[in-house]
Amino acid sequence: MQHLSISGQLRHKQANVVSALERHNVAFPVDRITGISPSAWGYRRKGRLGVRYVPKKGGVLVGFREREKNYVTDIKQCHTLVAELSALLPSLKGQLQDISSRESIPQVEVASGMDATAIVVRHLTPLSERDLQQLTSFGREEKVRVYLQSGGPDTIVPLEKRGKPLTYRIRASGDTIEFLATDFIQVNDAANQEIVDSVLHMLALTRSDRVLELFCGLGNLTLPVASNVDRVVGLDYDEQLVCRAKDNALFNHKDNVEFIRADLTEAPVGEWWRSEGFTKLLLDPPRSGALEILNAVVPAIAPERIVYVSCNPETLARDAATLTIQFGYRLEAIQVVDMFTHTGHVETIALFV
Ligand SMILES: C[S@@+](CC[C@H](N)C(=O)[O-])C[C@H]1O[C@@H](n2cnc3c(N)ncnc32)[C@H](O)[C@@H]1O
Repeated sequence: MQHLSISGQLRHKQANVVSALERHNVAFPVDRITGISPSAWGYRRKGRLGVRYVPKKGGVLVGFREREKNYVTDIKQCHTLVAELSALLPSLKGQLQDISSRESIPQVEVASGMDATAIVVRHLTPLSERDLQQLTSFGREEKVRVYLQSGGPDTIVPLEKRGKPLTYRIRASGDTIEFLATDFIQVNDAANQEIVDSVLHMLALTRSDRVLELFCGLGNLTLPVASNVDRVVGLDYDEQLVCRAKDNALFNHKDNVEFIRADLTEAPVGEWWRSEGFTKLLLDPPRSGALEILNAVVPAIAPERIVYVSCNPETLARDAATLTIQFGYRLEAIQVVDMFTHTGHVETIALFV
């Protein structure tokens, strides 16, 4: 979307949200929509790079996969990646070019934390001793934590024993969040800080609040919420993220949080949640939205406020129709945060009261 100015992109995304709401007959005063573009370039602190060995094109290509095609577009730099990840691209490519298993490496994930950078090298066949040594030297020289992945996410191991997770800090609460390069995190740190601030503001938390959070991931929103309430319970179906969320709570001395693994295409396991006395609901679902779980949970707990973080205006509008038309909530405010500037992706936070 680089043909539009940064403010033009934001206006376009706000208009997308408003038109999705109109299509779903959701009443909303347009003057209640706000927007922010916190960082337009060098914002991606995480990326999945395709790798392909094509001798006819001079060797190993490292870059992004073309949409709906099986090609990798070789890149030397990337203006949306954070500077330290973009700067790593040439040496990473050189490294992959030199190792003997280059034909069996389809992908490298890169991620940048507060004070370190990490790469996860996916390999389809075992790496030779020489390749391992070479990657170890690369990691030391470039000050990059190297991880290897031979299969699914549970096969990721640090190349060197002292591999530590990456971290980022949440401005609003001072919490430090640990993550692995392959974990789901909000990719744009500046936008994430704005999202956390807006969520806290919209929830209007008090010390007596009990908050239910659906799709909590590694606790990015849960921990800042926990600083302001009696209790918060976060649910997510990803076992590794739930594990990391529990560690993050311990690490930040949050003892009023609980994380439970649950598949939210169904009602949360058992009936415990009905008697928890939840006062507010926070959710941040994937693109498919949260219709089933909202139908199960909202009538049962009747939260005073619902804050819905969405990465898809279409499912947000569909779910907003259920919350407003069926359950009688009012859509009070909307903020669009341009998390992925220059792309068509729209991140929205909506408050229902
Ligand atoms: C947009 S992320 C939100 C993460 C978190 N709020 C954050 O800020 O980092 C969506 C989350 O939904 C989880 N998820 C996806 N499908 C799910 C399902 N069917 N049941 C439970 N959680 C699911 C993913 O594991 C992921 O953590």
